[in-house]
Amino acid sequence: MTLTTYNGAGVPSFMYGTAWKKDATTRLVLQAVEAGFTAIDTANQLIHYDEARVGEALLTLAKKGITRDQLFLQTKFTPVNGQDHRTPYDANADITTQVKQSFESSLTHLHTDHLDSYVLHGPYHRGGLGPEDWEVWTALEALYDDAKTKLIGISNVTASQVALLCERAKHIPMVVQNRCYAAFGWDKAVRDLCRTHHIIYQGFSLLTANREVFIDPHIRAIAEKYETGVAQIVFRFAMQVGMLPLTGTTNPLHMVEDLRCDQFTLTADELQQIETIGL
Ligand SMILES: NC(=O)c1ccc[n+]([C@@H]2O[C@H](COP(=O)([O-])OP(=O)(O)OC[C@H]3O[C@@H](n4cnc5c(N)ncnc54)[C@H](OP(=O)(O)O)[C@@H]3O)[C@@H](O)[C@H]2O)c1
Repeated sequence: MTLTTYNGAGVPSFMYGTAWKKDATTRLVLQAVEAGFTAIDTANQLIHYDEARVGEALLTLAKKGITRDQLFLQTKFTPVNGQDHRTPYDANADITTQVKQSFESSLTHLHTDHLDSYVLHGPYHRGGLGPEDWEVWTALEALYDDAKTKLIGISNVTASQVALLCERAKHIPMVVQNRCYAAFGWDKAVRDLCRTHHIIYQGFSLLTANREVFIDPHIRAIAEKYETGVAQIVFRFAMQVGMLPLTGTTNPLHMVEDLRCDQFTLTADELQQIETIGL
């Protein structure tokens, strides 16, 4: 299934995330694509990701006939405060230059001349948006205007930060990527705002951020009814309430199982039960 952004681009409805895969990144990306994933999320941030190893997998896939246009590639610009000493840009340069250098380095790592989605990993400020955030956003807008990326987005944001971008930006984000806690109604405030502005909400750590959900008797009963696992129920719930989920599994069997989560449909009552499970 494909979702459509407000500017008319298609985004696969499930994404494979490459954080914390280290040396296994290349093998896992190959296995994820073999399992059926067509969208890959990474970041130009060596603390948590290995973008160049994602690129190695892409070279192997190309040799097997899976070409660039068959895949959706999303990566991120990570500001200095989210990097260690291995910044993919001159950390002393102005922010616009940092974004340009990081973007070019991502293209090199991923052996491509454009991205499908380019995301600011997180604002510099916790509350509101400061001058640095606006400078990055303007640099991302320039990449979008130059057709170097089909989409731009932001991650790790509050509802008020998304609202500010929607009020003042030349191009509002096409995607927002957040950690999705059941305890906050699965990030309901941000999801609602995204729905209002036709922004695709990408939910990450749906499993790891919600371990208590796995032992909840209601969700276990729903999983039993559909003869599946709680992970698949969580991913299916995410899709049915309008999210684009990411999975970070390292297990090829889980990859296949997760992709099968669109083979059943939860009822409105079940969606309501899951949406309020952590409140
Ligand atoms: N923007 C950001 O700041 C940010 C931050 C964090 C993550 N992310 C993105 O989100 C992606 C996913 O994050 P995550 O790894 O926390 O996601 P996740 O899918 O919630 O967690 C993966 C963990 O759940 C386990 N798991 C158990 N059963 C599973 C099943 N059936 N399917 C999938 N996983 C199962 C996995 O174990 P097994 O390996 O044994 O399956 C693994 O330990 C990351 O790779 C990254 O791309 C973005």
